[in-house]
Amino acid sequence: MSATPVFAANWKMHHGPAATRDFFRDFLDASADSLDDQLFFFVPTVSLAAARRALAGRPRIRLGVQNVFWEPAGAYTGEISVPMASAAGAVAALVGHSERRHVFGETVEETVKKCRAVLECGLQVVLCVGETLQQRRADQAEATVTAQLLPVLEAVGGRAAGRWMIAYEPVWAIGTGETATPEDAQQMHEHVYGLLDEPLKRTPILYGGSVKPGNVASLLECRRIDGVLVGGASLDPASFATLCAAGA
Ligand code: PGA
Repeated sequence: MSATPVFAANWKMHHGPAATRDFFRDFLDASADSLDDQLFFFVPTVSLAAARRALAGRPRIRLGVQNVFWEPAGAYTGEISVPMASAAGAVAALVGHSERRHVFGETVEETVKKCRAVLECGLQVVLCVGETLQQRRADQAEATVTAQLLPVLEAVGGRAAGRWMIAYEPVWAIGTGETATPEDAQQMHEHVYGLLDEPLKRTPILYGGSVKPGNVASLLECRRIDGVLVGGASLDPASFATLCAAGA
């Protein structure tokens, strides 16, 4: 357990600019600013400007994007580059979220390019890894996570010290209401920690997958669980404020 766990919200494709303004009006009322250094919001890119305005009085809360393309500019219709995300107020980016990998077919090679681009631009990476239920049942959970993580570590590892986080999110726990048991989560976090070389040993390892106000404390009590990445339960301001307070 970390003394200062990270609480990261992944809004996915929810909350456009108006809903973002309303969210933060209520969330800021409901949350003490003592946790601000520990909070990240991965909002839809089109909502970054609204989020930035809403957070003008609480600038220690950090904003991020949910995906980027690795080239800085060019003929890539529909994509957003890291410099663009940065200029719009993002200081971090999710890479390799399970929905990117499984819905949009993102490959490990692509996650490597994205991580490199994010780090080269000075932003923080949150690299998401995790196995499917089939892989877990076939006793391939650790092998899957290793295969997602090692190529990134080899490509950008040491250079990234201090500027990235890893989020372990078992695919079968995302948005399903099923959570890994604290024991299973801790075991995978120990495995991930074991893959990190010395300069990266302090990389925060977050857990994600149906984290809620009622289970956050038991997860954060575990060794090597340094924070949480929260989807569904981050969409309601009162509930997410409760979750952060429960885990703090
Ligand atoms: P969930 O999503 O909390 O709704 O399971 C987590 C995530 O996808 O990051």
